Amino acid sequence: MRKPVSAANWKMHKTSGEASAFVEELRSKILDEPQVDIILCASSTVLFHIGTGPNESAIQFGAQNCHWENEGAFTGEVSPEMILDCGAQWVIVGHSERRHLFGETDEDVARKFSAAVSAGLRPILCIGETLDERQSGSTSEVIKRQLSAVISQTEEEAFDQAVIAYEPVWAIGTGITADTSQIEEAHQIIRDFIMNKDEKLATEIRILYGGSVKPGNAAELIGIEGVDGFLVGGASLSVDSFMEITQGISDHYDKG
Ligand code: 13P
Repeated sequence: MRKPVSAANWKMHKTSGEASAFVEELRSKILDEPQVDIILCASSTVLFHIGTGPNESAIQFGAQNCHWENEGAFTGEVSPEMILDCGAQWVIVGHSERRHLFGETDEDVARKFSAAVSAGLRPILCIGETLDERQSGSTSEVIKRQLSAVISQTEEEAFDQAVIAYEPVWAIGTGITADTSQIEEAHQIIRDFIMNKDEKLATEIRILYGGSVKPGNAAELIGIEGVDGFLVGGASLSVDSFMEITQGISDHYDKG
């Protein structure tokens, strides 16, 4: 069975004091061995503070972006090695805000994915269509294009370490969640696409949903076929709501 994931993407929020307080409170509330992989993706400036703290707890840490080189003249960028050095195990690549606000191309995302895996980081690969793309009927094509760009640049084994997050751009931070059939269909497209390349990987890889996940809809969303957890933005900023979502995932799996 695929272990479910509850991942927080804090985006450009939280100073080191706020992040440390969050981690401390979360640590006090979770079990030593939770049934869910709990990953906090923080800004690079706070990652070192939280990533190098007491490590016996079950919380894992991630960055929200990386460069594809490990060092060099790339002012303002952070490399996979630097992220590892902060005690993080994960990095988000291809988040829609990076693609759409900062012009990252499919090729950039593929290079970041490869560099992350080569450095020993585990990528959370974000893919998803815009509203225009959905309305023009090209959701499937967009998802396959985004996946294909990464798969063509990477050894298939690299995906063993990865998680995919399906995040329709129009559902991010808007309060609008995709409906059950839209999510189920998109997850199926992703799994089928991978199935054509590698059957074992397709059954093992975890595919998360992201876009306006909150305590009030988590229980319903986790019940959708093929959804292995969430990448949560706004509702991950408070320990209570992030815990409630994580608990919702855990309860669902307990019920079998
Ligand atoms: P929201 O949960 O705020 O919609 O953000 C989703 C997201 O972008 C997570 O990466």
